[in-house]
Amino acid sequence: MGNTHKIAVLGGDGIGPEITEATLAVLDAAEKKYGFTTQRTAIPWNGGMYLRGESVTGEMLDTLAQYEAILFGAVGHPEVTSGRPERDIIIGMRRRLDMYVNLRPIVLYQDAMTPLKGKAAKDIDFVIVRENTEDLYANDGWRRFEGTPREEVLTEQRFTRPGIERIIRYGFEVARSRPRKKLTLVDKSNAVPVMGLMRTVLAEIGKEFPDVQYEAAYVDVTAMWMVLKPEQYDTIVTTNMFGDILSDLAGGLVGGIGVGASGNIRPGATSMFEPIHGSAPKYAGQGVASPVGTIGALAMLLDHVGEREAGAAVDRALRRCFADKRIKGVEAGTHRTSEVAQMVAATVAAG
Ligand code: IPM
Ligand code: MG
Repeated sequence: MGNTHKIAVLGGDGIGPEITEATLAVLDAAEKKYGFTTQRTAIPWNGGMYLRGESVTGEMLDTLAQYEAILFGAVGHPEVTSGRPERDIIIGMRRRLDMYVNLRPIVLYQDAMTPLKGKAAKDIDFVIVRENTEDLYANDGWRRFEGTPREEVLTEQRFTRPGIERIIRYGFEVARSRPRKKLTLVDKSNAVPVMGLMRTVLAEIGKEFPDVQYEAAYVDVTAMWMVLKPEQYDTIVTTNMFGDILSDLAGGLVGGIGVGASGNIRPGATSMFEPIHGSAPKYAGQGVASPVGTIGALAMLLDHVGEREAGAAVDRALRRCFADKRIKGVEAGTHRTSEVAQMVAATVAAG
């Protein structure tokens, strides 16, 4: 008998519940084919709770530590504009459970999906390793002199040596596992000199990885080169804030944020896997949103819980469905949500 994995399923708001639900059909197929099982617990948190005056607290987040992994849909309610559900739930999970890596593979599933002229799948194939617990995301900031003409808002951009070391080391490990073995640290140490610490750490840890070629670059020019010459990137390691922006830019290179998946990873502990897109309330409940990003997240989740073969099979099935054009795109309405999940599930089952 295979292993049983305890996972939490947090659908959230908008299209979140339907895309995670559909993705579970792919998980069913993977379990059957690869001989393992999951014990799934639905977590009912979402932005809607905040309309009722409820919220997700740190103690509630702590209960997630009992699961090996969380499959997450999206959080964001049109009537809750404070951003609190996103901060409490998404950033809350990342920080409270110390999921310090945000891993975002950038994959061009079909050449026609890139807006870049003359670029094909072989040219756009890199991974963003975004730091996930520090930087501008580490606190809510302060306000002072409120209501006076000198009102100020301030926030701290905080990086710690252990925080930098662990993310750079993870970046090197990702780079080492890929054929090109190339790592690019992205920072802004010319204008924000404290970021120089990242370059110091890069050179130190680089010594442990003689087989990986590494470089450091500024974020502004990296944004330009990512568009003009994406083929020069393989593994990018960067800060929380820059990683947030660059990963949406990169998402645009491969067909929009509807495509991408990400892992919020704490190696060896509870980690959370989610599509990059949000809750898209206007498509909620219609069964037309694409589950592609969530299925990609499932592939990463399976890898994390040790079902490597199954994770690779889900990834392969997704690529195959795009390659033979059974999946025609990720725009809402291109397919039914369940139809895409069924196609990928059937491809997994067929092996
Ligand atoms: C992301 C999102 C989140 C972030 C938001 C929703 C808080 O943009 O996962 O990239 O800023 O990290
Ligand atoms: Mg983002």
